[in-house]
Amino acid sequence: MKKSAPWYHTTSIYHIYPRSYKDSNGDGIGDIQGIIQKLDYIRDLGFESIWSSPFFASPQADFGYDVADFTSISPEFGSMDDALQLIDEVHKRGMRMIFDLILNHTSDQHAWFKESRSSRDNSRANWYIWRDKPNNWNSMTGGNGWHFAKERGQYYWSSFLPFQPDLNWRNPDVKKAMFDIIRFWLGKGVDGFRLDIFNTIYKDAEFRNNPFTFKLAPTPDDPSGYFQKAKFSQDQPESFELAKELRQVCEEFGDTLTVGEITAKRNIVRKFAGEEKNDGLTLAFDFEMLEFKFTAGYFRRLISDIETHFPPPFMPVYVFSNLDKRRSIHRLGNDMRKAKLLHMLQLTVRGVPCMYYGEEIGMTNLHLPFKTALDPIPHKYTFAPRFVFDLLNVTVNRDEVRTPMQWDSTKHAGFSSAEQTWLPVHPEYGNINVASENLDSASLLNTIRSLMRLRRENPALQTGTLEFLEGLPDEVFGYTRKTETETLLVLLNFGETAKEVRLKFSETAYKLSVGDEAQGESARLNGFGGLILVG
Ligand code: GLC
Ligand code: CA
Repeated sequence: MKKSAPWYHTTSIYHIYPRSYKDSNGDGIGDIQGIIQKLDYIRDLGFESIWSSPFFASPQADFGYDVADFTSISPEFGSMDDALQLIDEVHKRGMRMIFDLILNHTSDQHAWFKESRSSRDNSRANWYIWRDKPNNWNSMTGGNGWHFAKERGQYYWSSFLPFQPDLNWRNPDVKKAMFDIIRFWLGKGVDGFRLDIFNTIYKDAEFRNNPFTFKLAPTPDDPSGYFQKAKFSQDQPESFELAKELRQVCEEFGDTLTVGEITAKRNIVRKFAGEEKNDGLTLAFDFEMLEFKFTAGYFRRLISDIETHFPPPFMPVYVFSNLDKRRSIHRLGNDMRKAKLLHMLQLTVRGVPCMYYGEEIGMTNLHLPFKTALDPIPHKYTFAPRFVFDLLNVTVNRDEVRTPMQWDSTKHAGFSSAEQTWLPVHPEYGNINVASENLDSASLLNTIRSLMRLRRENPALQTGTLEFLEGLPDEVFGYTRKTETETLLVLLNFGETAKEVRLKFSETAYKLSVGDEAQGESARLNGFGGLILVG
C-alpha cells in the first residue's frame, strides 16, 4: 500500500509574532495567554499548525532572537505553565505547535557566553567562536562580524548582531546541549521547529577570507552583499550533515516538522532538505518568492523551478511574508483583489502554505522612522537617507512589519487595553481588522477561510500532482491538482481585464470574485479573478 504523506507535508502554517498578537494582561505586549485566547480564531481560519516566534528567556535586544535560556519563558510572555498550556490547548483543537529554535547563537547574556568570555580556560571557553585575529567576514547585518572581548583579549564571531554570539558547533558539548534542548521541548509535546538562520551554523573550519563580489545589498535568496560573497561563512558541508542528524534526533519522538530558514539559492535550499531523498529538514523556506512579481509569467517560472527542485516526496513551502521583510500586500500596491488571488495560488499549489499573522486580513506595513526604531538594525543605518534603502528594496526597520494585530475597530484595534502598546497600532485599523472582515463575505479573510476549507476537503490540493494548463490567454495561469480519484483545475487571472477560457469541467468548486463564471466548456474570469473547477 502507498504510504500516505506525513502530516508535516500536508499541513498549513500560521506564523505568530507573539509580542504583537494579543495582550492578555494590559501591559501593551502580546503574550502566551493572548495567543491561547485566539486559538479558536486560528482553528476556524483553517490552519493546522501554528509557529510562534520565540518567547524564551531573553533580554529582548532582538525581541527574542537573542535567547538567554532556551528552556525557560520570558516573563513578559508568561511562564512555563503558560507555554505548556499553549501546547495543550493547540492540541485540544486538533492543531500542531511549532516552536522557533535559534541553534546558531545565543544572547551575550546567556550564562554560557558569560562564562565563555570570562577567560580563556573556563569550562565553556570553547563554546563560542573565538579568534586572536578577525578575518574579513561581514555579518549578515553588515559590517565586520568579529567583536573584541577584553576579558579574553580575543574576538568572538557573530553572524547577526554583536550581542548574538555564534555557538561553536564543532565542539561536541555544544551539539549535545542543543540536541538536549530539542529533546526537552519534544518531550513537552512540541510538534516541530522553525530553525533560525540554519545555514550559518557551521563556518569554514580554517576561517578563510570571503571573496569579493560587486553585490551591494543582501537579498532574501542570497546573503552575499556589502561587496562580499558569503562563501566561507555559510552553507558549509557540515551544515547539510547537521540537517540529517537533527532529523534523527527529532524522529526519536515520531514525525516532527522541521522548517529551515535558509537564505540561499534554491539548489542550496533543496540540499538542506536532502540530496537523494528527503532525509534532511522536512521543509525549508525558499525566500526568492518574498520578492515575487505579480504576473502569470513570474509564477509559472517560479512554480516550475520549484517543482524541479522539490519533486515528490519533497514538499516546497510557499511563503510571501514574514517578520523580517515587507508584507506581501505591499508588493501588490495594497490591493485586496490581488491579495486574494495571491493566496488562492498559495493555498492551492503543491506545497505547505505559511502565512504571517495579519496577512489574512491584508494588514499593511507601517512607515516608521529609523531613529526611533525599537528594532536594533536600523540604528546601524541612520547615516544614509531612507529613500536609498527603499530604492534598493531592502527592509531595514522591521518594526514596520511587526505592528499589533488588528482585531477590531476599538482602541488599539482590540490588541491591548494598555495606555500605550509596545509598537504603535497601524492607523488604518478602523478599515482593516478581523471583526469587520468577518462581516463581509467577499473579504480577504473570508476568501482565505473558504480556500482553507476547500484545501481540507479536497486531498488533491494537499497531496495531488501538479500540472500546468497550456494554451491559456495572456496573464492567465492555471494548473491541475490530481489524485487517483479527484481532479481540480485552478485558473488565476493576473490581468486587470476579464478573460475567457475554454476547458472541460463539470462544476465550479470556488470562484474568487463576483461574476467569475464557468459553464459547460467555457469559463470567464474577471480581472484579478480566479476559479477552482472540478474537472
Ligand atoms: C532570523 C530571524 C530574525 C532574527 C535573526 C537573528 O533571520 O527571522 O528576525 O533577527 O534571525 O536571530
Ligand atoms: Ca501582555
